[in-house]
Amino acid sequence: MTAQTATSTTAPVSDSATDPCTIVIFGASGDLTARKLMPALYNLALDGRLPPGLAVVGYSRTKWSNDVFREEARSNVEKHSRRPIDPEVWDSFASGLFYSYGGYDDPEGHDRLNEKLREVEAERGIGGNRLYYLAVPPTTFVDIIEQLGRARSQGAATEGWSRVIIEKPFGVDLASARELNRAVHSVFSEDDVYRIDHYLGKETVQNIIVFRFANGIMEPIWNRRYVDHVQITVSESLGVGHRGNYYDGSGALRDMIQNHIMQLLSLIAMEPPLAIDGRSVRDEKVKVLNAVRLFDDDEVAIETVRGQYGPGWVAGEEAPAYRAEAGVPDASQTETFTALRLFVDSWRWAGVPFYLRTGKRLPKRSTEIAITFKTAPKLLFHDFIDEPHLEPNVLSIRIQPNEGISLKFLTKVPGSPRLRPATMDFLYGASFVKQAPSAYETLIVDALQGDATLFTRSDEVEAAWTIMERVLDGWRSSPPLDFPNYEAGTWGPAAADELIEKDGRKWREL
Ligand code: BG6
Repeated sequence: MTAQTATSTTAPVSDSATDPCTIVIFGASGDLTARKLMPALYNLALDGRLPPGLAVVGYSRTKWSNDVFREEARSNVEKHSRRPIDPEVWDSFASGLFYSYGGYDDPEGHDRLNEKLREVEAERGIGGNRLYYLAVPPTTFVDIIEQLGRARSQGAATEGWSRVIIEKPFGVDLASARELNRAVHSVFSEDDVYRIDHYLGKETVQNIIVFRFANGIMEPIWNRRYVDHVQITVSESLGVGHRGNYYDGSGALRDMIQNHIMQLLSLIAMEPPLAIDGRSVRDEKVKVLNAVRLFDDDEVAIETVRGQYGPGWVAGEEAPAYRAEAGVPDASQTETFTALRLFVDSWRWAGVPFYLRTGKRLPKRSTEIAITFKTAPKLLFHDFIDEPHLEPNVLSIRIQPNEGISLKFLTKVPGSPRLRPATMDFLYGASFVKQAPSAYETLIVDALQGDATLFTRSDEVEAAWTIMERVLDGWRSSPPLDFPNYEAGTWGPAAADELIEKDGRKWREL
């Protein structure tokens, strides 16, 4: 979001990031840098959205030189960029790439890095603004933060601003998230901490706020009086790929629900913010999370479903069982599917169920939020419909793919008295020709500008973990006995259907 922030230490506001600065990437030889960060930075360079003279200093354990870092960056941008390389833009971008190596907890390596930073800053005349990007495994977050603190206490701090972007996962439970927050806050003030949830960088997710609060017709009906229930689905057709090792220690609840789906839920359920800025938007989002009813011990088994995929077929291709994926133990108890029914106990949402589901190896990739409205109060059309009741209006917000928004409503079939549902459709692809920036492009620019609206605040992260904690505790006390309980290529275990069908509702067909 390019809007004034109330919480930021600096607040340049324009479409391009204007303060000259250095981005320091920890984890510069890793996968995230290769697939997401370098392509995002290069695309920002192409659009002229980076600060003049920007330097990117990579740091990781691999012993590379500046030249190797530049070559690697080029080959990764060639592979992963959404637009091809323009040699002139590339040369100028690449001349700002530098590299320094060392361990994440190694003071010598960090001293070398600091030396390099001073050199680069002097050479390029870019002052001391620094954006540190922790694109590293979470086990190293605290080591790096401590080293940044050490450098600061030894006078290595610069005159300019220092911000830190922290990748997910932010903790594995409430206690670890709190501990990590404490460690981060011992060096950075909350205003300078940018916790990534890449879903917030997606155009369609940012558009939820615009759709709700820039249009006068939505808010009056966006509440328990008119809304019957809400469904949020994030389905993926892929399995865990080469991430079996990480995923098995995480599972669908931690990997998708605690962060991405809780963020979608808070954007859908939040009250109108006082302004579109980091403080106001996040104040409202955290209120939603704090209003989510926490499960009692015996509710976890009733309100949540866990699944794990066995072998099957997805999109015409044979898929192995989760337990047969690389890095996954033979008797893994990790869930690759989760469905939950939650209530947001606020004035606006009291009594409205929110059904959430996510899983790997489902039939297709689709992220959708569907708001189902209550039906018309009186059935005037008995003779003209097959059902004993009218079909409800459904507003579906497609986050990906086929990005768009549709409203389903009943209509009269021409030449017949019968009724049939039809849709009003908004499709990004048909309305806009310009390709959307990637989530990482948006988030990097926002962090450079000091706008934290699209990043998660410490209290939000802790509130989301508080909700998850009850589920994790409940699950821990009764391990799943039926895994694997869904075939790859199906919509999850039968219990997921029962969860919603016992309320007389159905999951949407996507
Ligand atoms: C990541 C999860 O945060 O989000 C992955 O760790 C998941 O397991 C991914 O596949 C989904 O992101 P997207 O943008 O492809 O929907």
